Amino acid sequence: MSERKRVRKGVFPAAGLGTRFLPATKAMPKEMLPIVDKPVIQYAVEEAIASGIDDILIVTGRGKHAIEDHFDHSFELETILGERGQERLLEMVRQVAGLARVAYTRQKKALGLGHAVLCARDLVGDEPFAVFLADDLIVGEVPAIQQLIDVYNETGATVVAVQRVPRDQVSAYGVVAVKSSDGRVHEVEDLVEKPKPEKAPSDLAVIGRYVLVPEIFPILEETAPGAKGEIQLTDALRQLARNDRVIAVEFEGTRFDTGNKLGFLEATVELALAREDLGPDFAAWLRERCSAIAGGRN
Ligand code: G1P
Repeated sequence: MSERKRVRKGVFPAAGLGTRFLPATKAMPKEMLPIVDKPVIQYAVEEAIASGIDDILIVTGRGKHAIEDHFDHSFELETILGERGQERLLEMVRQVAGLARVAYTRQKKALGLGHAVLCARDLVGDEPFAVFLADDLIVGEVPAIQQLIDVYNETGATVVAVQRVPRDQVSAYGVVAVKSSDGRVHEVEDLVEKPKPEKAPSDLAVIGRYVLVPEIFPILEETAPGAKGEIQLTDALRQLARNDRVIAVEFEGTRFDTGNKLGFLEATVELALAREDLGPDFAAWLRERCSAIAGGRN
């Protein structure tokens, strides 16, 4: 156990085109869409930092400069806020720039999630690392990635986050086949990317949090395009699971799929309700709105 390396680095694939949110994402990265007033990717970066991750490695693509600017200082804005004495806003803006050490690398072609992770190989080096798909926004008492890191620290195994989903939704996910289970912790026998419901080995869907061992990189290099013609992380994990231990953890917390419009709206409503400054007024408005809808007056 003392030999085990700490999970210090987090990889954030962020090169996707965001076609589901056009036209909003025509000139703006989908990772910068706000839930209330914070970009989606910042929630995941904060989750990483809260879990002891020091290095944020973002895999970007063309048209993603706004992400780099967001995690950098904005001298003009900071100067103006300072001159105006808007200390609270100034503090907030500075805090974002000071959140973490952030490095960027480019995924030059949209060849899939597995390929995006492979692009971070040199930045990660020979150590375990976390992967965050920022579209999956997870809120809860203990950060989801911390729950995975805890299992990694005990076992040294590769760990993936999973959640039970209705059978008719499994084809949107990677799905695990389980060898044995201990409560919410499952030993993985196999994984399948986006199976048809009748072919799915379980209802345990992979959600966008992983703790990976560096042995995944040579496997990713050899992984052929799979579902959607893309190099799939799930396929590399499937190969890894043949010889190595892979564990699936049913994390505790609420997950929102902000990558689709309904999930995005649900996250917006829930997080707005949870806000001290907005929650009470928003709840009052929502109650009225709901009773109008219930009365058939929408
Ligand atoms: C990706 C992964 C999939 C995983 C999902 C979680 O799919 O390929 O295995 O279940 O994220 O959100 P995508 O949502 O990019 O199609």
